Amino acid sequence: RSKQRLLVVANRLPVSAIRRGDDSWQLEMSVGGLVSALLGVKEFEARWIGWAGVNVPDDIGQKALTTALAEKRCIPVFLDEEIVHQYYNGYCNNILWPLFHYLGLPQEDRLATTRSFQSQFDAYKKANQLFADVVNNIYEEGDVVWCHDYHLMFLPKCLKDYNSNIKVGWFLHTPFPSSEIHRMLPSRSELLRSVLAADLVGFHTYDYARHFVSACTRILGLEGTPEGVEDQGRLTRVAAFPIGIDSDRFIRALELPQVKDHIKELQDRFAGRKVMLGVDRLDMIKGIPQKILAFEKYLEENPNWRDKVVLIQIAVPTRTDVPDYQRLTSQVHEIVGRINGRFGSLTTVPIHHLDRSLEFHALCALYAVTEAWRLIIPCLPGIFSCLDVALVTSLRDGMNLVSYEFVACQDSKKGVLILSEFAGAAQSLGAGAVLVNPWNITEVAASIGYALNMPADEREKRHHHNFMHVTTHTSQEWAATFVSELNDTTVEAQLRT
Ligand code: UDP
Ligand code: G6P
Repeated sequence: RSKQRLLVVANRLPVSAIRRGDDSWQLEMSVGGLVSALLGVKEFEARWIGWAGVNVPDDIGQKALTTALAEKRCIPVFLDEEIVHQYYNGYCNNILWPLFHYLGLPQEDRLATTRSFQSQFDAYKKANQLFADVVNNIYEEGDVVWCHDYHLMFLPKCLKDYNSNIKVGWFLHTPFPSSEIHRMLPSRSELLRSVLAADLVGFHTYDYARHFVSACTRILGLEGTPEGVEDQGRLTRVAAFPIGIDSDRFIRALELPQVKDHIKELQDRFAGRKVMLGVDRLDMIKGIPQKILAFEKYLEENPNWRDKVVLIQIAVPTRTDVPDYQRLTSQVHEIVGRINGRFGSLTTVPIHHLDRSLEFHALCALYAVTEAWRLIIPCLPGIFSCLDVALVTSLRDGMNLVSYEFVACQDSKKGVLILSEFAGAAQSLGAGAVLVNPWNITEVAASIGYALNMPADEREKRHHHNFMHVTTHTSQEWAATFVSELNDTTVEAQLRT
């Protein structure tokens, strides 16, 4: 066999299914950083194992969906409604996600709306076992299994229980919090032990890796070494592998006629105004209310800018069955309505808020929106200095690929990136971006002013720094490094025994 097979296991498949009939399915791209990054992984003979985002209770539907997904090299894991409720809405997105992003554990009243912690944890383990069953069915000797994210912390152990020779890697796409935070989880030890069953454990940043190792030493009493964590002579290698994007895909897209048409439409729509951009899943961790409040403060203090700048906020609906996400949606709508009422005119509003996702080409156009504008109004200084700004105000974020994608699309225009210091990306794009503490509304508002008025040479310098990083630290390189390290790790382990 020429290429090594890579089995990529993640809760969310790169495509989500929508039922069109008894045995007919439509497949759509899924949204999220994990899916975007893994799409760039082309070097391998990859198979994808995951959930297609729908409940398929009947055999006919399951067979038809399995066939449709096979064309995309995807293999479905079927989860019934009750499991999805307890494992995905409950344990993953109401407990692990907020905790790993330092938002704490749910309070009593919120827990009461779901089931008890223990039954959610049981469902989590059961779901992980279902993923392991599917992997085990298709596994062939020599395959590498790469498990992804907080949904599947039990998977490494389930797989090794099946067959201790399987090469297993696990990568976390969120932050791993300080051990003081992880300590709060009732299932803290069991989760750590299951992850440690993997041969290689990866994180976006060195800090997250360090937090994981110290959780293992403090909570499990194991020994942390520079290589990883040791348990009775067995080493689990732990390291940082900062993710990237497929930057060429974005850069190439900007040359396509349909993207240029999109840019033209946007430029007509917003002619004469500077564009600030936010692209996020509508998630608590993205700091969307904080971002909008900072924009309000900026408009409040700079009346001359009120009809000259617009904030376009794409807020992709996500995890809509989880109560906290529903509350966030109404909160954001309320704030946007208030600010538009306050600063809007009969013909314009300062915030364009969209509760939807955009297809890839529309998104690229938005990332590059003032590029065509510059062609029309070349080099007019002052208000029309042809600059736009991306605002990423995550309260915590594993990496944040939106910031990378914006940089990739800005090579002509050198727009400014305002970036939260709590996003993993702050460690790689920190020197080029304007870093902010999203909790400090005054500071974010001041940074908006700073970005809008930044001189061209400073913009150029900052952009260059980031563009170099984004185009050299790609998702392809990320995956290749992780998999080769996983292969080396297992070879070393065999040599030791
Ligand atoms: N995205 C998308 N369609 C949209 C908005 C966003 O496909 O309408 C993608 C975006 O291109 C990016 C991903 O969603 O690759 C978001 O990744 P990020 O790491 O910024 O955050 P996450 O959603 O993973 O928390
Ligand atoms: C983050 C997580 C991913 C997840 C994505 C979208 O990026 O790290 O694992 O796929 O958000 O969330 P969803 O719940 O829709 O899969």
